[in-house]
Amino acid sequence: MLAATSKERTLGTVEHTAGGAILMDGKLVRDELIVQLAEQVAADGSPEVTLATVLVGDDKPSRVYVGSKRKKAVEAGLQSRHVELGADATQAEVQAAVAELAADDSVHGILVQLPLPDGLDAEAVLNLIPPEKDVDGLTERSMGRLVRGKPGHVPCTPLGVMRLLERYEIPTSGKKAVVIGRSTLVGLPQVLLLGRKGADATVTLAHSRTADLVSVCREADILVAAVGMARLITPDHVKPGAAVLDVGISRTEAGIVGDVDFDTVQEVAGAITPMPGGTGPMTIACLMQNTYAAYKMLNG
Ligand code: GUN
Repeated sequence: MLAATSKERTLGTVEHTAGGAILMDGKLVRDELIVQLAEQVAADGSPEVTLATVLVGDDKPSRVYVGSKRKKAVEAGLQSRHVELGADATQAEVQAAVAELAADDSVHGILVQLPLPDGLDAEAVLNLIPPEKDVDGLTERSMGRLVRGKPGHVPCTPLGVMRLLERYEIPTSGKKAVVIGRSTLVGLPQVLLLGRKGADATVTLAHSRTADLVSVCREADILVAAVGMARLITPDHVKPGAAVLDVGISRTEAGIVGDVDFDTVQEVAGAITPMPGGTGPMTIACLMQNTYAAYKMLNG
């Protein structure tokens, strides 16, 4: 018998918010995906697959993110290699470190944590990463492949949003999706992923200068907020029953805050991601999946 399709699969553990919305639990789904990957790596004979992380400077949150990525790589049965350069590293030093990893056959995926310290040109660094090893999907060539519908790595955060929609069986085909934010890291690839064949949503790209954002958002069956404006999205923006996914991160005095005012929006939404614990952990799970895909691409 064929394996159950996502439609036939039961949802398994699903929690609801106090207001009754499905809680799209990124930590839970990340852990499920990491366990599945570890099982697959073991079933394939435990090949040595290495994710290299590059951290430049001493931004504390970046250090925490890279630490989580390294820890989850090991849990997924992958090897983690880490290269660290000081905040005073020159452009040439950073590029030399990335070029060395690009040329090293024992490294399958390269992740350069962004942002780089002021004064460094991230584009020039990223463009040294060959497409097969670009597990973050951020280089011009990976983006070009996504636009052209060619095989390649897809940026992990928007991919994580798609995985959450799949896991919680939120229909996308023929639905209206609104993505707020036009970054290359999230908003632009998110539009492509939601609109491409298979997902088949009708997608609107909104941003900080969109006129009457409330009306635009209220049309959405799926609302992805990735603009980095703390608690921008209130119940007024949300069509009752819509799926709301929060990708925004703002560092405020009250700590890290998302784009969505969770406490009030969960009363209206049909499904919602928590912040933290929603889209962030999914980024890491997708990075691990991309790294294993990189190994397979590099080894035929
Ligand atoms: N900084 C914040 N998010 C990301 C990400 O997904 N990839 C990289 N490389 N840096 C980031």
